[in-house]
Amino acid sequence: MSSHTQHTVEDNPEREPVTLPRLAEMKLNAEPIVMVTAYDYPSAGIAEEAGVDMVLCGDSAAMTVLGHSSTTPVSLDEMLVLARAVRRGLRTPMLVGDLPFGSYERSNDQAIESAMRYVKEAGCDVVKLERGGISVERARAIVRAGIPVMGHVGLTPQTATALGGFKAQGKTADQAVRIAEEALALQAAGCFSIVFEAVPTAISEVLVAKLSVPVIGIGAGVATDGQVLVWHDLLGIYGGRQAKFVKRYANLREEMLEGVGRYAREVRERAFPGAEHGYSIEPEELEAFRRYIEQESLPASFGGDWTATEI
Ligand code: KIV
Repeated sequence: MSSHTQHTVEDNPEREPVTLPRLAEMKLNAEPIVMVTAYDYPSAGIAEEAGVDMVLCGDSAAMTVLGHSSTTPVSLDEMLVLARAVRRGLRTPMLVGDLPFGSYERSNDQAIESAMRYVKEAGCDVVKLERGGISVERARAIVRAGIPVMGHVGLTPQTATALGGFKAQGKTADQAVRIAEEALALQAAGCFSIVFEAVPTAISEVLVAKLSVPVIGIGAGVATDGQVLVWHDLLGIYGGRQAKFVKRYANLREEMLEGVGRYAREVRERAFPGAEHGYSIEPEELEAFRRYIEQESLPASFGGDWTATEI
């Protein structure tokens, strides 16, 4: 495989695109909903082929792919570049565009405008925003404009500083009541689903039963209607700090490091490229070229009519 190789999304003609009614049905039937984040085309293709239900182009990209220390610096324009790439790799999972910090809080108009950009410019099916409070109004406005919205409560990374850092929420009765109120308000505003992040298992168990929309958990225990993990966490690509709720299903960082290290060694030892990685030329063509190069009248530097050979 090379950068010139044509890739296509692996088509599973049996699988229907995941719709909002399908997600509601999954909650009713107690069928767990599988969601992952993705930020690029090849990862989206893997999510498609693995048969996940929902893909979130999350603002966690600020940390996992852009190298920031929090999610707040990433802009909507940056997120749109990533979401467009993810869209090209997906056919059946529902694509969620994550509204980044600063792209929806100011006014309902700003929120609708940003959500519409995700739909029109990146082909997202739905959008996600964080917190209760003013976000409830923003969610209602976006839903009224015709775009489905997913809420996100508990640990909301965009406002982690205000929450006292990246730590579990709802560990006191007061905090748990706030989470319950926010989730119920988001549901009443029309959110089709809500993410619970870093919420005690016993609290999410109670709330999942009170909510009619699917709850997708990340660090919220097994009672939620589905689970989401960050791509780089689940595959062990990200070397940064790992939250308690992360389970690694692979250790790709080690494999990548090993691969790049071996490549560097082989280049330095001239073990790569091998003969099999080069292109051949007919002997008579080579001979003619040599005769031309060796003629004495050849100027020190020469140009000419070069025709690119197809690789
Ligand atoms: O941005 C993100 O990856 C998220 C998930 C943690 C739900 O919001």
